[in-house]
Amino acid sequence: MKRLAVLGHPVSHSRSPAMQNAALAELGLDDWSYEAIDVAPDEFEVKVREMAAGDWVGANVTVPHKGAALAVADELSEVAREIGAANTLHFEEGRIHAYNTDAKGLLTLLPESVEGSRALVLGAGGAARAVVWTLVRNGAAVDVWNRTELRSRNLCEDLGGTPVSEPEQAGYDLIANTTAVGLRGEDPFSELPLSAEGFRPEQLVVDLVYSDRPTALLSAAKERRSETIDGLAVLVAQGAVSLKIWTGQEPPLEAMRKAARSN
Ligand code: ATR
Repeated sequence: MKRLAVLGHPVSHSRSPAMQNAALAELGLDDWSYEAIDVAPDEFEVKVREMAAGDWVGANVTVPHKGAALAVADELSEVAREIGAANTLHFEEGRIHAYNTDAKGLLTLLPESVEGSRALVLGAGGAARAVVWTLVRNGAAVDVWNRTELRSRNLCEDLGGTPVSEPEQAGYDLIANTTAVGLRGEDPFSELPLSAEGFRPEQLVVDLVYSDRPTALLSAAKERRSETIDGLAVLVAQGAVSLKIWTGQEPPLEAMRKAARSN
């Protein structure tokens, strides 16, 4: 058996097992499996070392382990090192390789070129780091807003971008929400520096929060005829890049999308 897993805490809500098992089935990889494993922070390192020494091929790593995943790795991809977080581990002959597929996944969803565009990223956690890195690396001018300003300042010092406290919503080509706002049904327009009426048709609005129905943020953006990318699309895109690292095969995107959405 070739085993894969997502490691998180909590992790029971994750759609990765449904999505990745659908992909493995579609590829005819019948001796592969993917499961969710809840690992407490103080058990993470031991668990990963045990997996690398056993019959595991790799793992996705999610909150709160993305920083610890870097620390436990024997080798880091350049992207993971620069972002400062890893979401994918690959075990080869007992060695632990760490990657960040959030960045590459997001890039597959963005317009062909973001060079010269103006972007606003909301948030300054691990997800924000991958988004800012991707946009800065591809030539966008990136402003970063965060509720706790110290974190956005630190992020911009590490990765580029400009911390802002009162962003002008209409001035951006791309707006990405990487905060947790919306996860529990919060009103994004009271927590974030945006207004429902402030979106424009020329804008691309990305919300990393994933749910079956459009989030309040994306509903408002659609109402104003902005382009949108939702959290499930981002989940599928990063999962596809991870799957390719583990199996070497072209990911069956349609099967992955369907499984992620019908959970
Ligand atoms: P992740 O790795 O998923 O990005 P994180 O590091 O916990 O997770 O970051 C969560 C982000 O959501 C942070 O930017 C956080 O803002 P703070 O740095 O001020 O904590 C943001 N966030 C969470 N709840 C929020 C709220 N009610 N209003 C605004 N921002 C919020």
